[in-house]
Amino acid sequence: MALPNLQIALDNSSLSEALKSISLAGPVVDIVEAGTILCLQSGMEAVRCLRALYPEKIIVADTKCADAGGTVAQNCREAGADWMTVICCATLPTMKAALKEIEELQVELYGDWTFQQAQQWLNAGITQAIYHQSRDALLAGETWGKKDLEKLRKLIEMGFKVSVTGGLTKDSLALFKELDVYTFITGRGITGAADPNLAAKEFKAEIQRIWG
Ligand code: 5RP
Repeated sequence: MALPNLQIALDNSSLSEALKSISLAGPVVDIVEAGTILCLQSGMEAVRCLRALYPEKIIVADTKCADAGGTVAQNCREAGADWMTVICCATLPTMKAALKEIEELQVELYGDWTFQQAQQWLNAGITQAIYHQSRDALLAGETWGKKDLEKLRKLIEMGFKVSVTGGLTKDSLALFKELDVYTFITGRGITGAADPNLAAKEFKAEIQRIWG
């Protein structure tokens, strides 16, 4: 199995806070995400700042786009994003329009979706999916478990590069040890730590210990 990437999700409510987080953890992580909250607060200026800081890293705009895929993707690309996200309930035409404008598109799996839809996404040329426990579901008492591992395994077997996210801690990574996870996306586990640089290094070390 390949070594999973570590992606930081900058879900800060202000660009200045996001820049503080990334200035500490940025050198450690593989992929930098302008989180949905940050995109809503600061728009594409957040992506422009991250691209200026990290010309060599993959930058993701986590727009969770639901409509106007082509325009949103064009805006993300022009701001410097390599990848962007669409919500799984977006229509295929929205996804296809976005895919024409951006290097890679990631489908964010929330709520109800089917493997039949997932096959349609693959057929449309979308190769990445993000398996998500939403922060609201986690707050309502949802936890990671066997049901998630089964769905993750099936998505990987279908051929998706699958990212895992939602309330991850360093200690929760071992749950996924049998799976060829493409990327672990961590927000508060890094940005909310007393020492974000150390927290990012600990995530990387745990990934290396399990998959290395
Ligand atoms: C929220 C997101 C988050 O960026 C992602 O889930 C990581 O957040 P955290 O690790 O803080 O739960 O996409 O919609």
